[in-house]
Amino acid sequence: MTPDRARAARELLAFYLETGVESLVGEAPVDRLADRGEDAAAAVPQPPALADRARSAAPASGFAARNGETLARPGAPPPQTPLREPAAVIPSPAPMPPDSAVMAAREAARSARSLDELRAILERFEGCALKFMAKQLVFADGNPEARVMFVGEAPGREEDLAGLPFVGRSGQLLDRMLAAIGLDRTRAYIANIIPWRPPGNRDPSVQETQICLPFIQRQIELVDPDVLVCLGKPSTAALLGVNDGIKRTRGRWFSYHTGTREIRAMPTYHPAFLLRSPLEKRQAWRDLLAIKKALAE
Ligand code: URA
Repeated sequence: MTPDRARAARELLAFYLETGVESLVGEAPVDRLADRGEDAAAAVPQPPALADRARSAAPASGFAARNGETLARPGAPPPQTPLREPAAVIPSPAPMPPDSAVMAAREAARSARSLDELRAILERFEGCALKFMAKQLVFADGNPEARVMFVGEAPGREEDLAGLPFVGRSGQLLDRMLAAIGLDRTRAYIANIIPWRPPGNRDPSVQETQICLPFIQRQIELVDPDVLVCLGKPSTAALLGVNDGIKRTRGRWFSYHTGTREIRAMPTYHPAFLLRSPLEKRQAWRDLLAIKKALAE
């Protein structure tokens, strides 16, 4: 390899790391635009900028691969000689007015008449840049008929790989918390505010949260639980509009309007926080008992 190509390769790898690339899966190209089909893309309201780019994206324009996908590098021309064939082509996240993405999300979420429809709509929605960096959608796990719904913040690496929420270390603790009050995933429903993993597990931005919010709100409305549990401050702030610290809000009952009725909602500690601060499990245990009691009423 010539020194120039070696330098180009190092720069490319550094760029991958910066954008959260952690692994390579699959050598074969996958044309996700072809998979999507014209009808499906047209059915979901899309923010104009992204929808236009999705139609005009050309295979050769992307070169940064993440988990078998290809991203265009903002502001930089593609290399003359690619180091390897681009693995796949997807439209890159384009700068766009956040308002139009939020409006498109609201319209798309409202149009879902069932959880299956909502999932399908999210699979096609292109208004949130996180989608293009995640491996797959992490929609939900558990029983949609459950009386209690737990909502976390966003998927991590394990969840991104599995396509299911709370399957990593936090998820194992969540399972033990559920078991402590006689629940498991057949008797609880679990989702996140953000259904795509933010690269490198960074915090979701305010804009990303605003764009994803209508979808989780609609998901709650469709599941229609009796009790909503917000895991951690980001979930509490997004769903209950309460910005106090979780130490102040945990264990308190709030009212949540699903769109059709008022239900009870309680913030509690996120399992990831409890892994870091095991002494707080005592408080979380109190919250769990209160949730158990509410479900028995
Ligand atoms: N943390 C979350 O908030 N959600 C997950 O699914 C996993 C970890």
